[in-house]
Amino acid sequence: MGFEKFDFFWYFKILYRNFGKKSISFSTFCNVKTSPRQVSQVFQKAQSAFAAVEDLESLALFEQTFLGKKGEIALLRKSLKELSPEEKQILGPEIQKGFEVISSQAEAFRTKHASKALMAQLEKDWIDVTKTEAFSRGAIHPMAQLQRRIEQIFTSMGFDIADGPEVETEWYNFDALNVPGTHPARDMQDTFWVTHDQKDAQKNVVLRTQTSNVQIHWMQKYGAPLRMIAPGRVYRNEDVDMTHDATFYQVEGMMVDKHISLAHLKGAIETMLAEVFEKDIKVRIRPGYFPFVEPGLEVDIWFEYVDKNGQEQAQWLEFMGAGMTHPEVLRNGGIDPNIYSGFAFGFGLTRLAMLKHGIDDIRLLSSQKKDFLQQF
Ligand code: DAH
Repeated sequence: MGFEKFDFFWYFKILYRNFGKKSISFSTFCNVKTSPRQVSQVFQKAQSAFAAVEDLESLALFEQTFLGKKGEIALLRKSLKELSPEEKQILGPEIQKGFEVISSQAEAFRTKHASKALMAQLEKDWIDVTKTEAFSRGAIHPMAQLQRRIEQIFTSMGFDIADGPEVETEWYNFDALNVPGTHPARDMQDTFWVTHDQKDAQKNVVLRTQTSNVQIHWMQKYGAPLRMIAPGRVYRNEDVDMTHDATFYQVEGMMVDKHISLAHLKGAIETMLAEVFEKDIKVRIRPGYFPFVEPGLEVDIWFEYVDKNGQEQAQWLEFMGAGMTHPEVLRNGGIDPNIYSGFAFGFGLTRLAMLKHGIDDIRLLSSQKKDFLQQF
């Protein structure tokens, strides 16, 4: 680049001023840093550096080099100090203008880059929601399907869906249900104890062995009359095999009102079974023992199925425990047994799912085997 007219003029101006004042040495004159030519060189350099900016990282470097506190433009500004007021008046605004141009270029790049990055992300994330066949579909787990169905059936009979803690005190899981510490029935259910060393049953903690604990909570909370089912998870300290798991699901049921009898219980169970199996199911009631009901009952169902050889089979199967709620249990729930009576039942939801779908290994239900689960 040649020596331009304007620069020539500028040098003469400075020369004239300095020599006119006779106050400046030649070396100081040579030291004069800032001229319009130098200013425009800095801005030219900035422009070609900006052309090479291609991402946020190189933009940051660019900004540091030109716009930063110790950048090229800051240096230009600093060197203005050495100039006369008239020179400052010309070069000052020039530098400021250049600074603003570069700043807004950098800002525009940043905005554009951000929206470009967003567009690229959107492009990458784009899916055609109408193309469902491209995805493998999930499904509701067979246990959840059955639980929902049972909840529908009982809700239609005016029952509430109840819920209670899985980590429970010894008192709610046993004592309140008429199973004191010395009672042999405690051995019927192998218990996972969380704490076992307290004298007070209200303080010891267990993983609930049965959903029956919800009976007490619900009676205490809502009193009589009451209709509820409580589906939920229970825990038993058992060895796992085809028919036993250390955790499985039960459904508890309870109805408390004036003049409740076994007829109500039988009606509710038969209705549920007919709905679940979509046909009438024969039910047999035998005496059974559960400390929280008196009389206590075992309910069997007449179960018809097709075996592995394609033969039609039928047999009585134990299905649930039930009975008329023991007066002591009503009292523990805060309900007067002289006024109210109730029935209660409890069955294995997991077992019902196995019966309904002909599943012979309980472990499949807690597995994540997709080819198994996709059948339902
Ligand atoms: N809780 C009992 C169990 O886990 C089942 C049961 C039996 C529940 C009789 C009841 C009942 O409500 O009345 O084996």
